[in-house]
Order: sequence, then C-alpha cells, then structure tokens
Amino acid sequence: MASATAASASASRRRCLLLVAALLLPLAVEAAVPHRHRLPSHHLASHNTSEPPTTFFEVDRPIQPPRGSLGPCSTLLLSHSFGATYGLPPVTAAYAPSACLAASGRGSLALAVLEWSADCRGRQFDRIFGVWLSGAELLRSCTAEPRATGIVWSVSRDVTRYAALLVEPGEIAVYLGNLVDSTYTGVYHANLTLHLYFHPAPPPPPPPQQADLIVPISRSLPLNDGQWFAIQNATDVQSKKLSIPSNTYRAVLEVFVSFHSNDEFWYTNPPNEYLEANNMSSVPGNGAFREVIVRVNDDIVGAVWPFTVIYTGGINPLLWRPITGIGSFNLPTYDIDITPFLGKLLDGNEHDFGFGVTNALDLWYIDANLHLWLDHRSEKTTGSLMSYDAPALVLNVDSGFSGLDGQFVTSASRHISATGSVKSSYGEITTNFYQRFSYVNSNCFSDNGTVQVVNQTIDGKSGVFAKDSSAVLLSEEIHQVFPLHVYTGTSDQVGDEYSLISFVKLGVNEKKTSGGKLGFSYSSLWNTQSARGSMKVKNNLVVGGLGETHEVYKYIGTDGCYFRDVSSKNYTVILDQSSDSCTKRKPYNGTKFSSRNDQSARRKLLGKKL
Ligand SMILES: *[C@@H]1O[C@H](CO)[C@@H](O)[C@H](O)[C@H]1NC(C)=O
Ligand SMILES: *[C@@H]1O[C@H](CO)[C@@H](O)[C@H](O)[C@H]1NC(C)=O
Ligand SMILES: *[C@@H]1O[C@H](CO)[C@@H](O)[C@H](O)[C@H]1NC(C)=O
Ligand SMILES: *[C@@H]1O[C@H](CO)[C@@H](O)[C@H](O)[C@H]1NC(C)=O
Ligand SMILES: *[C@@H]1O[C@H](CO)[C@@H](O)[C@H](O)[C@H]1NC(C)=O
Ligand SMILES: *[C@@H]1O[C@H](CO)[C@@H](O)[C@H](O)[C@H]1NC(C)=O
Ligand SMILES: *[C@@H]1O[C@H](CO)[C@@H](O)[C@H](O)[C@H]1NC(C)=O
Ligand SMILES: *[C@@H]1O[C@H](CO)[C@@H](O)[C@H](O)[C@H]1NC(C)=O
Repeated sequence: MASATAASASASRRRCLLLVAALLLPLAVEAAVPHRHRLPSHHLASHNTSEPPTTFFEVDRPIQPPRGSLGPCSTLLLSHSFGATYGLPPVTAAYAPSACLAASGRGSLALAVLEWSADCRGRQFDRIFGVWLSGAELLRSCTAEPRATGIVWSVSRDVTRYAALLVEPGEIAVYLGNLVDSTYTGVYHANLTLHLYFHPAPPPPPPPQQADLIVPISRSLPLNDGQWFAIQNATDVQSKKLSIPSNTYRAVLEVFVSFHSNDEFWYTNPPNEYLEANNMSSVPGNGAFREVIVRVNDDIVGAVWPFTVIYTGGINPLLWRPITGIGSFNLPTYDIDITPFLGKLLDGNEHDFGFGVTNALDLWYIDANLHLWLDHRSEKTTGSLMSYDAPALVLNVDSGFSGLDGQFVTSASRHISATGSVKSSYGEITTNFYQRFSYVNSNCFSDNGTVQVVNQTIDGKSGVFAKDSSAVLLSEEIHQVFPLHVYTGTSDQVGDEYSLISFVKLGVNEKKTSGGKLGFSYSSLWNTQSARGSMKVKNNLVVGGLGETHEVYKYIGTDGCYFRDVSSKNYTVILDQSSDSCTKRKPYNGTKFSSRNDQSARRKLLGKKL
C-alpha cells in the first residue's frame, strides 16, 4: 500500500531518533532501508504483567517551592492515550485559570510547575512531543522507549515565567506523533498537570522577572502536526509576522529547538566530499556544524548553538534505561534579548521573526515565545538601535581522508552584539545584548570506516547589560560549555548481523551570574554523563546487548545546591547518592542535609567565587 508506506516512512522521520548506524556501517549504507533498531521480540515474549514497570528519569535539580508558600493547587489539564496520533491534529483541551489562581491573582503566584507523567508498555520508538498553551510552547520533550513490562516517567518544568499566559483562558495543545502496529505496540498514556504555589497574603508586588505579555512565534492551529516550524534545509527560513504593543520596554525571545532524522546526530555528519568519494549517497552529510539563526526583519538578532541532546533511543537505546540523556525529557530553551532592536519594532507595524539553521538537513523543529514587558504608565515607548555588530560566521573545515578512513576537524566562531536604548516611564535605558560562540569538532573514521570517534566542544557566552543615566540596572551573563565524545565501533559484520560498541560522554557546564536592582545571584552547574554499551543487531533488530550509564550532577548557587551521583546498568540503578547541602563536609553520603540554614556556606562560596 503506497500510502501506508509513505506514511510510515515520513512518520519515522518524526521520531526523536533515527539511528546513526547507517553512517557507521558503510557496508550497509548502500541498502535502501536505513538501520532501525527495535527491541528483540524475546523481550516482548517474556511479558509478565505482575512485574512492576521501570521508572525512567532525567537527572535534574528538584523544583522547590519558595519557603512559606502555599500549595500546590493542582489541576489536570489534559489526559490522553497517544496511539495512532501521527499526522493528526494535536490533542487539545480548553484551558481556564484554576479557581485558586483566579482567587489569588497573578501577583501572588510563587511557582507554577507543569508536570507530564506517562506510562507505556510494549515496543515503541522514542517520539518527540510538544505542549503549547495558546500557541506558546511550554515543554519540548521526547518520550521514553517502553519495555514489555512497562515503563513510567514524568518530567516537570518550571513555567512561572509564563504567568501572563496562565492567568488567561486559552487552549492547551499536545502533539505527539505516534504510530502503533503489530511491531510497534506501545501506546503512550499521559497526564498533564499544572501545580501552582502561592505567596501567603499580602502578595508582594508582581515580580519584574516575568513578562507582561507572551506572544507565540509558532504555527497556528488547525494543523496536522505540532505548532513548531519545520526547517528542512540550509536555505529554509520559517517566519511569522507580528506586531508588538507600542508601550513595550523590554523583549526577550525564548527559542525551542530540536533536531531529527538526517540531522538528529548532526555532530557526527561527515563532509559531503567524503560521502561523494565513497558513493554514500544515503548517509546524511553537510559536515558537523549547525547553528540556529534568529532574524528579526533582516537583522540577525541572535544565534543558538544547541546542546547536543541525545534522545532516548540515540546511538544505543540501551544506554538510556532508566537514566535518560541530559535534556531529552526536558529540552533546553535559549533566550535572546532583543530589547536593543525595539526602536525598530515599536511602530505598530508587523515585523518578521524568522528562524534558519546553518547547513541544516531535514529536519529541525523550531519555535519561540516572545516575552514582552509593557510600560503601564505610558501608551508609547520609543527607542533606537545605537550599535550593532554581527560579523559573518567564521567556519573552517580541515579535511583529510583516503577511502573510508579520514579525519575532519571543523571549527567555528560567531559574535553578535547590539546596543539600543528605550525611553519609557522608567527613564531612558540602554541595553546591550551580546553572544560569543566558539566550536570545535573532530570527526575521525578508522578501521576502514567501521570506527567513528567524534569529539566536540561548544562554548557559548551571552549576556545582557542594562543601565540608565545614573546606575547599572542589570548585568547578567550565562556561560555554557557543552563537551561531547562519541565512539562507535562496528564489528562482526556478517550479512545483516553485526555488533556495535558505543561510548558516549556528554555534559553541560554552565555558570550564570546576575546582578542589578533585583539583587545578586550566581549559579554553577556541572552535569556529566558517561555511557557505554554494546548491542547485537540482526535484521535491523537489537537482539542482545547491555548498556551502562554514570551521571554526576553538581549545582551550586545562591538559591541552593544539589548533588547527585547515579549509575545504572542493564535497566537497573546500581548506585544513587544525592544531597542538597552546600557544605563540602560529608558531601556525597546519600544523606539529606538541609540547605535552608546554610547561609554561611553560601556567603563563603560567594566570597570565594566573586
Ligand atoms: C573496506 O570497506 C569497503 C566497503 O565497505 C570494502 O569494499 C573493502 O574491501 C574494505 N577494505 C578492507 C581492507 O577491508
Ligand atoms: C512475574 O513477576 C513477579 C514479580 O517480579 C514474580 O514474582 C513472578 O514469579 C513472575 N512470574 C513469571 C511467570 O515469571
Ligand atoms: C493519569 O491520571 C489517572 C487519573 O488520576 C490515573 O488513573 C492514571 O494512572 C494517570 N496516568 C499516568 C500515566 O500518570
Ligand atoms: C528547502 O526547503 C524549502 C522548504 O521546504 C523548499 O521550498 C526548498 O525548495 C528547499 N531548497 C532546497 C535547495 O532543497
Ligand atoms: C563510485 O561510483 C562510481 C560510478 O558508479 C564508480 O566509478 C566508483 O568507482 C565508485 N567509487 C567507490 C569508492 O566505490
Ligand atoms: C576525544 O575525547 C576523549 C574523551 O574525552 C579523549 O580521550 C580523546 O583523547 C579525544 N580525542 C581527540 C582526538 O581529541
Ligand atoms: C540484564 O537483566 C536481565 C533481567 O532484567 C537479566 O536476565 C540479564 O541476564 C541481565 N544481563 C546481564 C548481562 O547482566
Ligand atoms: C555516611 O554517613 C553515615 C551516617 O552518618 C556514617 O556512619 C558513614 O561513616 C558516612 N560515610 C562516609 C563515607 O562518610
């Protein structure tokens, strides 16, 4: 059936995952069908309904309600079983602010948490999904891959910054494109819940960290897809025209990004000349560098050099059970402050907000939320762009190969800086936003192309500096380093059988500082995963194998600390220690220490770091 084949072929592109094995297996590349790993059928046969489901999880700092706050006041927003949902409209539900929010008002909202909890049993690919409220994306995530005995998992995201949306009636939309047949039996049953916490009366003044208005830059319903834009190639730019209120005095774009299909493992893609020389026409190429470019009209206002999220079936699916890859359940978003450009946008006309991806192959899902702060004491603010510097990307590829073996070293850098002023009832405020990125990737094929080693580091800094004539109002900087190492080796290839050894190391190292009128904050995160595994593949099925993963998460900040050291092997957690202490004594003993009275430790930390 031609139509069914086309549907499943295009559906498979929408998975989080399209295994890179095809790339690692030049012998198999010529085959028309790329490798797709499935769980072995004997896993399904050993089905025992009385065995408890496995809990999958992403290591993250638990979200803590502010001390003394009341709650939670929880509302089920949507409950749905995602079976054959691919290519259908998103599942929607009317959203009305809960009675507790209506009663307390936005000003007393202390914390809002969106929780996705789901279960699944059987066999299924990892699927990308998105949650939108009135067109603004609230969560981008990837499902966990189920097992015969069932899995459960949940992901929580702090959605307090969307307070302006949460207090208005709207519509929740969830798109999770799933396919169910006799092989892929897993149906995802999910609940989406909003938990609210409130400041006890009397409420403090509304927090200026939260925007007054959130304008979605996404596609509008009705759609038979998610509300994200789909970017298919390097020249594809997807955009939306919109006008902003003429009393805006601050604007921040929050960008959601995920990469799939031919670009799911973009950082392992070799240059096209290597693929051409080896007649590997079905292997994704375009080299190993990608960046998302954000434009307002014709200006590049910022870039995203994304964290290399590895989805739950990525590289070797056995690596991510039950500890999932960093960011895979809760994909990171990226903020671009466009306040310096407000002078060009306050004319009441529509302006074009667009996204493109340098060197993109099919397929990137991108959208954004535009957070706007409005001047309630004036109808019109004015502004001007004072300086703007966005030189072209610097990209170098050092390439050498002979046959299937070779090494490619790619390096890149980019710098963007814009300064503009906005006159409002707060005075005339000058804002500078800057980004400075560097990247290096080494991609090495050896043993006649059967071994691939990729080492990559992305280093990105961005900051905002705002001042009026008398004082610095805000000075914040975020510095992120994303190291990545991927080793994959194929061996024992006989016909459609082979073994794959993988070793993956990835991490997020992040430092944030913020100072100004709202006080001072600092945080540092060191989050590293090392995973190794082997699998035997026969006829595109994983018929055996083992994966193990070790993760160390260490957060130190003015708002508390969190440490976790956790290891898993063969679906089982074999070590798990955590602490929320900020002191260094007795640190990693699995004992919980209170961070509440740890002011002296924090002062010590601050004194040292700054
Ligand atoms: C290397 O791989 C190619 C294609 O996969 C194969 O034709 C060739 O015989 C291999 N060479 C060696 C030395 O194994
Ligand atoms: C099913 O699992 C339960 C709990 O792990 C165990 O007690 C029981 O013996 C298993 N039954 C079979 C048939 O394996
Ligand atoms: C969803 O909520 C229903 C009703 O509370 C509950 O029975 C079910 O177990 C929940 N499912 C998940 C996956 O959390
Ligand atoms: C890139 O993608 C766009 C949008 O799908 C399409 O219109 C265009 O033809 C593509 N360009 C190339 C060179 O494939
Ligand atoms: C690639 O294909 C061309 C034409 O079919 C052929 O002449 C050439 O030898 C092939 N190269 C390799 C490395 O297989
Ligand atoms: C790649 O990274 C691994 C692990 O961090 C390291 O052992 C190796 O030396 C690196 N290789 C290159 C070529 O940089
Ligand atoms: C992995 O765990 C399963 C049970 O969940 C067990 O049957 C199997 O032997 C284990 N494999 C290894 C290599 O430890
Ligand atoms: C962990 O804490 C327990 C109880 O306080 C203590 O007995 C033990 O010695 C500690 N272990 C380490 C390695 O500090």
